[in-house]
This record gives sequence, C-alpha cells and structure tokens, in this order.
Amino acid sequence: MVEKIIIDTDPGQDDAFAILLALASPEIELLGVTTVAGNVPLNLTQRNARQVLEFAGRTDLPVYAGCAKPMAGPLVTAEHVHGATGLDGAELPEPSMPLQDTHAVDFIIETLRRQPAGSVTLCPLGPLTNIGTALSKAPEIASRIRRIVLMGGGLFEGGNITPAAEFNIFVDPQAATVVFASGVRIVMMPLDVTHKVRTTRARVARIRALGGSFGAVAAGWLDYFERFDEAKYGLEGGPLHDPNVIAYLIRPDIYGGRECNVEIETESELTKGMTVVDWWGVSGRPHNALFIRDVDDEAFFDLLTERLARLAGASAITSPKTARG
Ligand code: BDR
Ligand code: CA
Repeated sequence: MVEKIIIDTDPGQDDAFAILLALASPEIELLGVTTVAGNVPLNLTQRNARQVLEFAGRTDLPVYAGCAKPMAGPLVTAEHVHGATGLDGAELPEPSMPLQDTHAVDFIIETLRRQPAGSVTLCPLGPLTNIGTALSKAPEIASRIRRIVLMGGGLFEGGNITPAAEFNIFVDPQAATVVFASGVRIVMMPLDVTHKVRTTRARVARIRALGGSFGAVAAGWLDYFERFDEAKYGLEGGPLHDPNVIAYLIRPDIYGGRECNVEIETESELTKGMTVVDWWGVSGRPHNALFIRDVDDEAFFDLLTERLARLAGASAITSPKTARG
C-alpha cells in the first residue's frame, strides 16, 4: 500500500536528502511539503524546500510556509552546521515555483480532515512547531493521523545542541510536548540511530558517481554538511539524520527499537529540550513512542543510493556549482 505523507521540514542538507528519497520512492505519495523555522529562518527554509523540489523536477508539488518561531521563546538556528543559506555546498538557482498562500498549519489540518481517517502519516524533520500548533488548534485531527515518524531526541547519545538536547526538540520543547502527549502513534529517529548512519568517503563517492549535475549537487551537500560533524565527532563522515524517517517508511525491517514512554523537559536551564526516555520501564508511565536505536547502515545507504539514481535522470538542473568547485 502506498503511504500518503506530509513532510514538515527546515532544509537543511539532510532534510533535502529525505525529500529526495521520498520523491524517488513508489511506496510513498508526498501530498505536500510544509516548512518551519529551524536550521535557518522560515524565509530560507521555504525557499530551500522549493529549490529541492525544482532540483528534482517536481514543481507540481505544493510548498507551504508555517511557523516562523517556536510556540514559546526565541528561535535558535544552526547556520554553524548548515551554512548561511541552510543548504550550503551546492549553488542552485533561485526557485521559481510558487509558495502556496495557505499557512502550513492550515494545510496540515485541512488535509487530515479531507483525507480518509488513518491514511496520512506526518514526517517532521525539524522543530515540531507546525505539528504542535496544528494539534493545539484542531485537537480532533489527532485521531485522523495514521502515525508521526519524526527525527528528534536522543538518549544514550546525549544531545547535539546542548549536552542534553537534540536540536529539533530543543528549538521547540513546548511543541514537542504537545506531540508526545497527543496519543498519536509516534516513531522517533533519535541521535542514537542517526549517529550510526554516517557519510563515509566511499558512500559519498557512490552518490557523486551518480554523475552529472545530480551527483555533483548531492555530493556537494554531503561534503559541506559533514565537515562540521567530522570535526565534532572525530569520525569519518557526518550523521545523515533526516532521511532515516523516510527510509523507515520503506524498509522498517532494517531498523530496531523499543516501545517507551518519552517525556520532554521544558523548564530546566541545563536540560531544556531533553527527551526523557524510559528505556528500562522504571517510571510506570505508558508507552507513547517507538524509540529507534539500531539500523543496518549499509542497507540504508544501498537504499538511498539506489533511489537517488532513479532521480538523477530527472534533475532539472544543468550546471550547478559546488562548494569545492
Ligand atoms: C536535526 O537538526 C538539524 O540540524 C538536522 O536537519 C536534523 O533534523 C539533527 O539534530
Ligand atoms: Ca531537519
């Protein structure tokens, strides 16, 4: 059965790979792309999402702009990881496909009301502001969502923006609280699994070898993105976080995890945005998420590379420049 999804995103090079993987996969029907402030401000994430869709030749898909700041508190961004544009590493033309007039939150609510109950999966790849706002504005949509498969959080791996918190949850812990309390089936891809999915030289070389402008742009993004994480973790390659959300929809058999209770810390100065995961079941609180911890990373990269190869021929871009020339 083809799974209908909405991707909610803050591109982000790794977000771009998640979008491309969805576009290349017949198991998935992408209904629309909603954008949120995160890695960079909203004016750039909505632009970047349109750039990625144009790059893939999919100007027919609607892109919506959503929330420009978290439900509470100021926006925190990550230009230090993703560059000033959020998509540094390859220069693509300014997108010409339109941005939809409808607010992303309204598109999410209207789509869930219009589509058969239980038929649409939400795939958040950034801070959970749009999803939390939609659930707060129209709580009845919770029962209509098939499931939420999201990238965010961490347990044994700690955090990546603070010692305790992963970036997406840290930026909007209030929205994350709404999502994890919603009763919707949640699958989470935390740092514990995404840190196992690293862009080694050999893997990037396979993607560059897809050839032409497609291979150059995709490898340019990976080269840029990994430079920060290689220095940080001291390992070969950087973690490719967000495409795990889409890969899970296609190949759940390559992932392993455990049903847990997950609560979000919203108050503490020291641990704000921490996902408090009851891995050992000591709290007695009910399970509300499948916490993914393991992946066959070779199978992941085989899938990603094979699917990107399908798109390579359809790319609309003819002569991009990459950061490394
Ligand atoms: C998450 O934060 C962003 O920088 C990435 O796009 C990913 O969604 C990883 O912590
Ligand atoms: Ca992201």
